[in-house]
Amino acid sequence: MRTPLIAGNWKMNGSLGLVESFGQAFSRARLPAGVEVALMVPFPYLGAVVDTLAATPVAVGAQTLSDRPSGAFTGEVSGGMLTELGARYVLVGHSERRSLFHEDDEAVLARVRAALSCGLVPVLCLGETLEEREAERTEAVVLGQLEAVLDALSPEERERLVIAYEPVWAIGTGRTATPQQAQAVHAAIRDRLERYAGSLAHGLRILYGGSMNANNAAELLAQPDIDGGLVGGASLKVDDFLAICQSAG
Ligand code: G3P
Repeated sequence: MRTPLIAGNWKMNGSLGLVESFGQAFSRARLPAGVEVALMVPFPYLGAVVDTLAATPVAVGAQTLSDRPSGAFTGEVSGGMLTELGARYVLVGHSERRSLFHEDDEAVLARVRAALSCGLVPVLCLGETLEEREAERTEAVVLGQLEAVLDALSPEERERLVIAYEPVWAIGTGRTATPQQAQAVHAAIRDRLERYAGSLAHGLRILYGGSMNANNAAELLAQPDIDGGLVGGASLKVDDFLAICQSAG
């Protein structure tokens, strides 16, 4: 079956002190067998996180990347730089990138391609706004975002993704999707993956993100199509994040 993945997304938060506390806590912690853990941290902390967590099974990731390999793009960071620092994952299409930085489906696809070309695992984020949910457009929006990427990739490339469903209205609001609401969308995503290939539907991990915390994680993670979590606020508190990791075991 699919290996659960619990990924923390620090967003533009954290400090070298927080990196140190994660290093200490994760070197002592016993993570449940068969659960993968990753931390998506701001660029400046990547090297420190890789070094500090080197003796732990925690993988490291970034939160975005340039769609170009190199060149005169002041302020941008390429996928090659991320792999050189030891990153394994990169978030692509997070709702904050889509809404605040105007990354549309085309920009998301370009970044997925850039990540794949460097050997990074893109975590493709999908999600509807509250307005879209209330207009009963959740599936149309989420599956549209999914197809905009999958249609353009080869079968081999598709197999290298992780998907994250993050309803925008649940991000940072404390309002989590109910396990039933989340499961329904995850099942629709998996059903759509089936159209590409049975092995894709069977093998791709679909994470849930949106106000996941130590109290609600177990029930969400118990749903048949929820294969892990993409955790924002609760990934900044090492005890809470560890508790979420434990509940995936
Ligand atoms: O990528 C994680 C995310 O957007 C969810 O954030 O703070 O609601 O857990 P949060």
